[in-house]
Amino acid sequence: MAKNKVKLSPEARRKALRRLLRYSRPLIPIAAGAFVLAGISIVAAHFIPVLVGNAIDLAVGKGNVDISGILGILTVIPILAIVSALFDWLVRLAGLRLGASVTRDIRADCIRKIEKLPLSYLDSHRTGDTLSRMIADVDRMSEGLVTGITELYSSALSIIVTLIFMIVINYKVALVVALLTPLSMLVAAFISKRTFSLFHEQSTLAARETAVIDESVSGGAVVKAYSRADAITADFDELTGDFDELNEEYRKTATRAVFYSSITNPSTRFVNSLVYCGVALAGGLMAVANPLVTAGQISTLLYYAHNYAKPFNELSDVIAELQSSLASAARVFELLDTPDEPAELPDAAAIDPAKVEGSVRADGVEFSYTDRPFMAGIDFDVKPGMRVAVVGPTGCGKTTLINLFMRFYETNAGTITVDGKDIRHITRDSLRASFGMVLQDTWLKSGTVRENIAMGKPDATDEEIEAAARASHAHSFIKRLPKGYDTPLSEDGGQLSQGQKQLLCITRVMLALPPMLILDEATSSIDTRTEIKIQKAFAELMRGRTSFIVAHRLNTIKNADMILVMKDGRIIERGTHDELMKADGFYAGLYGAQFKSAEGA
Ligand SMILES: Nc1ncnc2c1ncn2[C@@H]1O[C@H](COP(=O)(O)OP(=O)(O)O)[C@@H](O)[C@H]1O
Ligand SMILES: [Mg+2]
Repeated sequence: MAKNKVKLSPEARRKALRRLLRYSRPLIPIAAGAFVLAGISIVAAHFIPVLVGNAIDLAVGKGNVDISGILGILTVIPILAIVSALFDWLVRLAGLRLGASVTRDIRADCIRKIEKLPLSYLDSHRTGDTLSRMIADVDRMSEGLVTGITELYSSALSIIVTLIFMIVINYKVALVVALLTPLSMLVAAFISKRTFSLFHEQSTLAARETAVIDESVSGGAVVKAYSRADAITADFDELTGDFDELNEEYRKTATRAVFYSSITNPSTRFVNSLVYCGVALAGGLMAVANPLVTAGQISTLLYYAHNYAKPFNELSDVIAELQSSLASAARVFELLDTPDEPAELPDAAAIDPAKVEGSVRADGVEFSYTDRPFMAGIDFDVKPGMRVAVVGPTGCGKTTLINLFMRFYETNAGTITVDGKDIRHITRDSLRASFGMVLQDTWLKSGTVRENIAMGKPDATDEEIEAAARASHAHSFIKRLPKGYDTPLSEDGGQLSQGQKQLLCITRVMLALPPMLILDEATSSIDTRTEIKIQKAFAELMRGRTSFIVAHRLNTIKNADMILVMKDGRIIERGTHDELMKADGFYAGLYGAQFKSAEGA
């Protein structure tokens, strides 16, 4: 997380810009057209003061007034003004179109990326951070890109056109203007540099805040849903503490960023006024010394001098905006550049889940998330149809072991085989399809109950779906929903109880009937009555299938064929419940402690 604080190097900024421009490539014709129109619009707008100057000279020149000449000019001016405004509008439309299409393409890439991200990325990045990269950063970046580039172009072109017109009218006054404006640029450059790094920091802090809020909101829901408040409130307090600190940091950075961006306009405006005075003075002196300079020309030059400074004003804003959008772009590209799950081995073959018998073996498996060794010496031999329980204190590596079976992570040493085949030589998709998983965190997709159940077997008939729901004891509650199997569900399944969501996930597995099952603390947050139902559903499911059950409540795994007792990443005891009780070791201790606390409660 702290890595995000690193400021973008100019090299990184250029790279982000180049890559961002690549997304605009399909719309090059529109962009090119917009550039041409913007050019015409700017030249037309800048020609108006010349005409006004001419009109003034026709009115005051040599004491007489050339009415027809002035009328001629007065008809051209509105035409130029209309052309300029119309083209400017078209350019803006093109910009919006371009921005929307870049946003769409980058979001599409992000979504596709999320599917290919290794679990390790999702495990190590808070959801809120990933979300804010995909939503807020993508918006900021394409918005900044479009307004940034169009403004940059029109500002630069304004400066050039004005300069040329001024030189043609009177190069000496043009020189005064050109000499004084670097002042304006220096001020702008200094301020924008400060503003950029502060805005970057601010955007990083905002992402971190989003992440904490996301976590505490979901945590808050959990606290409300179950009365397991004690354990969670401690986490929550820690989160809240983190948040206050972050929030204070955010306030400081935001204040400084706002300070710098607030002095941008006043200070550049001050410098601009200096330029304006310089031109008036120089022009006036010249008119006195050299009667060839007319009043109309001085009026035109003054107008230019005034407006010459404006694009510099805009440039400083635009550069800050572009830089902040590039900072966002860099964060988005960082997400897009995360390596995918490692490629499959060349000889990896798919297995047919329907034909898997279900023997699972581990030999000398070692694994660690970081440099620090964590899991080692994992050996076991599970025969088809065996019911295996994995128990041990929180953090001992039960979920990690499951992640290794599913190849969410790869082992560092040792092998895991399924039906005698090294899982590294089995494609991930077919391996994962061979395991049915029910986890503590259920996940539903938005769609109807029916669609949610049929996820693992999209071609299932209504009869099959209902049969699966009956088998998992979910049918009766589904029938009571407002529209039965056609009741729409939201992603968080808000209208369902935790147990009902759990039952839906079990039904899903029941329908797909994979040869092997994994139940990871699937009943740990469910009331006893529902749990009994789920137990029954599980029993149904497990018949004839190799199953791995990770359970908090040890009384639920008493009849397992084998219990693996884990501690600190190792298997320290194994056997049936009776054997382990007789041995009176770690398991017996755990069981006794749970039994006592259950009685005391
Ligand atoms: N993605 C991860 N990156 C680093 N460490 C992790 C990651 N996931 C889990 N751990 C650590 O590995 C250990 C085992 O975690 P886990 O297998 O989830 O335990 P259990 O399921 O037994 O409660 C814990 O110390 C945990 O903090
Ligand atoms: Mg776990």
